[in-house]
Amino acid sequence: MKKITLTLLFALVLPVVALADEGMWIPMLLGRNEAAMQKAGMRITAKDIYDINNACLKDAVILFNQGCTGEFVSDQGLFLTNHHCGYYYITSNSTVEHDYLTHGFWAMSREQEIPCKGLTATRLVRMEDVTRQVLQGIDDNTSEQDRERIIKQHIAVITGDAVEGTHYKAVIKPFYYGNQYFMYVNEVFTDVRLVGAPPSNIGKFGGDTDNWMWPRHTGDFSMFRVYVGKDGKPADYSKHNVPYKPLKHLTISLKGVDEGDFTFVFGYPGTTQRYVPHQQMELQALQENPIRIALRDIRLNHYKAAMEQSPAQRLKYASKVASIANGWKKWQGETLGIQRLNGVDQKKAQEKTFQQWADNRPEYRKVLADLDENYRALSPIELKWVYFSEAVMASDIMARARRFNQMAQNIGDDIKAREDAEKFLADNEKFFADFDLHSPVDRAIFVETFLYMWQQGYAPYLDAKGKGEAAIRKHLEGVYDKSMLTNPKEMDKFLKGYKAKDYEKIVKDPAVDLFIVAHAYTYRPEDEFTFDLCRRNIGKLMRTYVRGMMQQYPDSNFFPDANLTLRVAYGHVQGFRPKDAVYYTPYSTLDGIMEKENPDIYDYVVEPRLKELYNTKDYGRYANLRGEMPVAFIATNHTTGGNSGSPVLNADGQLVGINFDRCWEGTMSDLLFDPAYCRNISLDIRYCLFIIDKFAGARHLVDEMTIVE
Ligand code: ARG
Ligand code: ASP
Repeated sequence: MKKITLTLLFALVLPVVALADEGMWIPMLLGRNEAAMQKAGMRITAKDIYDINNACLKDAVILFNQGCTGEFVSDQGLFLTNHHCGYYYITSNSTVEHDYLTHGFWAMSREQEIPCKGLTATRLVRMEDVTRQVLQGIDDNTSEQDRERIIKQHIAVITGDAVEGTHYKAVIKPFYYGNQYFMYVNEVFTDVRLVGAPPSNIGKFGGDTDNWMWPRHTGDFSMFRVYVGKDGKPADYSKHNVPYKPLKHLTISLKGVDEGDFTFVFGYPGTTQRYVPHQQMELQALQENPIRIALRDIRLNHYKAAMEQSPAQRLKYASKVASIANGWKKWQGETLGIQRLNGVDQKKAQEKTFQQWADNRPEYRKVLADLDENYRALSPIELKWVYFSEAVMASDIMARARRFNQMAQNIGDDIKAREDAEKFLADNEKFFADFDLHSPVDRAIFVETFLYMWQQGYAPYLDAKGKGEAAIRKHLEGVYDKSMLTNPKEMDKFLKGYKAKDYEKIVKDPAVDLFIVAHAYTYRPEDEFTFDLCRRNIGKLMRTYVRGMMQQYPDSNFFPDANLTLRVAYGHVQGFRPKDAVYYTPYSTLDGIMEKENPDIYDYVVEPRLKELYNTKDYGRYANLRGEMPVAFIATNHTTGGNSGSPVLNADGQLVGINFDRCWEGTMSDLLFDPAYCRNISLDIRYCLFIIDKFAGARHLVDEMTIVE
């Protein structure tokens, strides 16, 4: 009888164990997934993907800086990633005369490749389970503070030993909330050069309008090359460096993929929260997201209106808007997804079965109740922080007030005071250059975000400033207008003569004063204390809870939450139904780019050369069997932020795409994966090669690659 109820419950709620296609698996332990992967269509072995004794696919995958993935596609260190990952290096190397962002960049020879200062590419050499060594001497009676300290010490010793006498670097990361620890021994390359990027009309086609959405037509790729010293080891930039010869580079298939085909994504997913209790899901998806979205609505409306005014304003706000809008849009999809799935109720149902299981197990009996108690104390504090980052810090005047206030902290140090003042003066020049255009935008954002926060009860310190909304608004406008920070002449005079003893004038400035008050309200010492305590408690409780769930379902393979370590996600190319009566087919083509074309809308301008290729159907060997030029496809691979640029491989382990996004209706996948809605979006590798070869005429780069037709 008991068994039947359990099975029934299991069928009613999304089970706590991974569903079909859900999961981001550890390469070293992929043997456990091998049978399932082969059943799903894979024709290679787990060892072809990860093997410490032989060159394998993992040697072709790199972590691009600390937030994207890339893959080697030639034996001369050439690698692919996304356009939005390389974005900073494309823009920062652009000038008005050489605007690579707008027009694209293609190195026609090695000499033309552009060194990218600060950019790193990290290759995993090997990984190892170090749980026993890390947790040595720690038991249930060890306090969380002691535990953290001991672990830190052990990690320093273990990583030090692991890389001694080598040029490698090692990191150790917790898994399953610290139930397990893995060490990653890495090789970090520091001479990385920009090789190619399409014009933004291609690399960012559809812009923020299409971001997070399907159907998608973004040619989201860029190319870089790793250089090493003559000894083949990582070295900082030098003109004597030579292209790196990877142990393995990917073979590219021009066969493409069809609906139902097996694919896997091999890369560096950043963060997921698969096992959190309902309180955390509720806090994030139903409380925090709506606040963040509402406050970003305010900012985006003002920036977007300004961008309509002139090309100069468009440029000024483009990257700011892109970064504000990326989260803003994702959270909307996430919240809707959680609501559609009744995610919080599902979590509660899972917790109920857990509690039944735990009732006669003392170790686990109280864990859910204790989690609840800690979330009750932590949640209101966290909401204050959300308001601080999304409202108090929304405007430039407040960012400048924060910095001004920091400057005032150097009491009595005249040398430091002069240094600070000079830096501020240099920034002012840039800041005030277009202030007549910028200040109405910044002023409106400042006033409205504060006003919104006050209306929600998160700025009670404004109550004393006037009765009613109109009075508060007037007060805020006064702060903006009276502050030195918005007055170039006054600022200039003040900073030029600034001495440490003048700090009192800074803290009396109305904008700085408001910043100080808002900061003090948000970060009250007693809140900090409570938050820290709850965070530690929750850390410990989650460790117990996750361990308990794994015991509750001993036959299940639990994937560990993403933590910016190398993972494999596998699934199938598949369309989906975003809403009633609509079916999304799984691939897009150049025809769709022409459908979207609109010379009057920035995001939908099509390059003349691309149109020409479209009109003559000059697709060469890159067309699909139907004669179309494929652009992007979707699949059920479980991915998240950080997976951008990841190779998407077919059943034979050949490169067929570059992952770059997810479909909006499935962005709750960090918290809850639903195979009916969750899709990753990949660039079809044939479109990427078509752009390099046919559009840009950089055939020499394609010739470096290993391609099977
Ligand atoms: N949504 C993708 C990701 O989360 C792409 C972001 C860049 N593109 C953009 N239009 N903002 O990173
Ligand atoms: N666009 C994301 C990234 O840059 C990928 C995702 O969130 O699906 O990593």
